[in-house]
Amino acid sequence: MSTTAQTAIPHHIAIVMDGNGRWATRRFLPRLAGHRQGVESLRRCVRACVARGVGVLTVFAFSSENWNRPADEVSGLMDLLAKALAREVPQLSRDGVRLHFVGEKSGLSDKVRDGLRQAEAATAGNDRLVLNVCFNYGGRWDIAQAAAQLAARGEPITESSLHAAMGMAHVPDPDLLIRTGGEKRISNFLLWQAAYTELYFSDRLWPDFDEAALDEAIADYAARERRFGRTSEQLQAAAPGSLRA
Ligand code: IPE
Ligand code: IPE
Ligand code: MG
Repeated sequence: MSTTAQTAIPHHIAIVMDGNGRWATRRFLPRLAGHRQGVESLRRCVRACVARGVGVLTVFAFSSENWNRPADEVSGLMDLLAKALAREVPQLSRDGVRLHFVGEKSGLSDKVRDGLRQAEAATAGNDRLVLNVCFNYGGRWDIAQAAAQLAARGEPITESSLHAAMGMAHVPDPDLLIRTGGEKRISNFLLWQAAYTELYFSDRLWPDFDEAALDEAIADYAARERRFGRTSEQLQAAAPGSLRA
């Protein structure tokens, strides 16, 4: 444990929920069965985050590049999202979860778009956990669309104006980014917001990522020293948690 240990629980956790396809293939099941199991794993993870006092959970559910998958997998994922929303929103609301969808809405069908809007409206009064679902999202898309907004308004492009125009402006940057499924890459997730996020890679496939695995990731995070460009000695002199990038 470092001398400047974090507050043990990260305020904002982001997750690349990877490995659903392999989970299914290993069981001789269609890939979509893995995605369905992935929804179960997300439900468990949300409840675990609520129980641990995490304030924000941001999950990568469908990337700008996932359109390149076979058409039946893409349509299956769209369908799964619409059905999961219809089924899960009442319980999410009881648990105090507020939903936000981050990503390019224009690429989605009317049915999916309506589902997202309704879920956001139905949970807008909740304040225990913010759940950001990145869907049809890419970090590059987000930076480019923010720059385009500023250009259209004739506003100067600065770090803070860009930040404010991006899809994640309503929450602080993630403290911990977990990627399951064994790959060690970002795959166009939160490129801007992850500048000083602690990265954690797990070999577990997303459907197998349970509470104990989440606790391991949180414990690993708690033992890290976040320096934000400063020296260890400076951190030791400062009040715990007072330093940011
Ligand atoms: C992540 O699981 C979910 C989505 C990208 C929608 P994958 O479907 O990428 O699973 P693997 O990586 O093929 O195992
Ligand atoms: C990242 O996983 C996107 C999501 C989890 C939604 P991918 O499976 O699409 O990433 P790559 O293709 O292995 O980089
Ligand atoms: Mg994958």
